[in-house]
Amino acid sequence: MSKVHKIAVIGGDGTGPEVINEGLKVLEAAASKYNFKYQTNAYDFGGERYLKTGEVLPESAVRELREFDAIYLGAIGHPGVKPGILEKGILLTLRFALDQYINLRPVKLYDSRFCPLKDKTPEDIDFVVVRENSEGLYKGLGEFKNKGTKDEVALQISYNTRKGVERCIRYAFEYSRKRNRKKTVTLCGKTNVLTYAFDLWERVFYKVAKEYSDVKAGYAHVDATCMWMVKNPEWFDVIVTDNMFGDIITDLGAMIQGGMGIAAGGNINPEGVSMFEPIGGSAPKYTGKNVINPLAAISALAMLLNQLGEEEAAVAIDNSVVKVVREKLISLAAGKMGYSTTEVGDLVVKNL
Ligand code: IPM
Ligand code: MN
Repeated sequence: MSKVHKIAVIGGDGTGPEVINEGLKVLEAAASKYNFKYQTNAYDFGGERYLKTGEVLPESAVRELREFDAIYLGAIGHPGVKPGILEKGILLTLRFALDQYINLRPVKLYDSRFCPLKDKTPEDIDFVVVRENSEGLYKGLGEFKNKGTKDEVALQISYNTRKGVERCIRYAFEYSRKRNRKKTVTLCGKTNVLTYAFDLWERVFYKVAKEYSDVKAGYAHVDATCMWMVKNPEWFDVIVTDNMFGDIITDLGAMIQGGMGIAAGGNINPEGVSMFEPIGGSAPKYTGKNVINPLAAISALAMLLNQLGEEEAAVAIDNSVVKVVREKLISLAAGKMGYSTTEVGDLVVKNL
């Protein structure tokens, strides 16, 4: 008997559940077409639950989630909850507790019509960002001194371990090799100012690079990386960077690939349980209106299936998404697609 993939589903807040529903529709169709079995378990973590119970994540959550083959997440963030509580308490807690040390964010343009950059085509915008996902400024280290006084100082420390940096960089080189396109890894840092953190990153980067003589290794400061992403995105293949810079440049990446409606990512623990999500937020103002673009969530599902070894299904979903984008949608933005959320999901199923 073939394996049953156990998938935990966290719809989360705002439009999260709506886009995840479309993903689940696609999952069901893909499973019957590509002959695999799966089982889903829904979890109600998010703002509503927090407001009702006062609990962000139950104590059993991490233990339970560890038993799954993958986690499929919608969005976290609620207008009625102070910013930071849910993001830290759910999203970051899961990333850290499950040691999802890679945040893999493909930046891929499907149709030139949806690119804000002049004269750029799908051939020009096709790279991935490997964002370190377990350390850096996200570690939450720091302190206030003289809080509330005129002499107040706030420290926020970037925490970088050699082991943490090395496993991330190694993943990037492996990924570039497997991807087999331009075979180039660019370290995005700030060695001219952050002379501790990125000194370590740079030393480890060139040391690891020596083991990958078939992959080119280069360096760009983060500010220059932003410039090149707009001016010459075709230069990039795999960008590897720390948690904070990765957060920032992947929002820019999402914009050049057509917006938050299409940008997907995976929080990956190559040896453990990974969690896949559309990288946009919970979009409260579009909630419940059946107007949000579900393609980012559907692409996240394709990444999830790829991770589970269902490569054929993953490729078919990606191809279907490309076809729907190119042949049907008039925009990738919420409310402007020419179709509703559920109709876009149906189109992806139909083209599978
Ligand atoms: C992301 C988000 C999160 C992050 C927030 C919600 C904590 O912006 O996934 O990029 O900063 O990592
Ligand atoms: Mn972000």
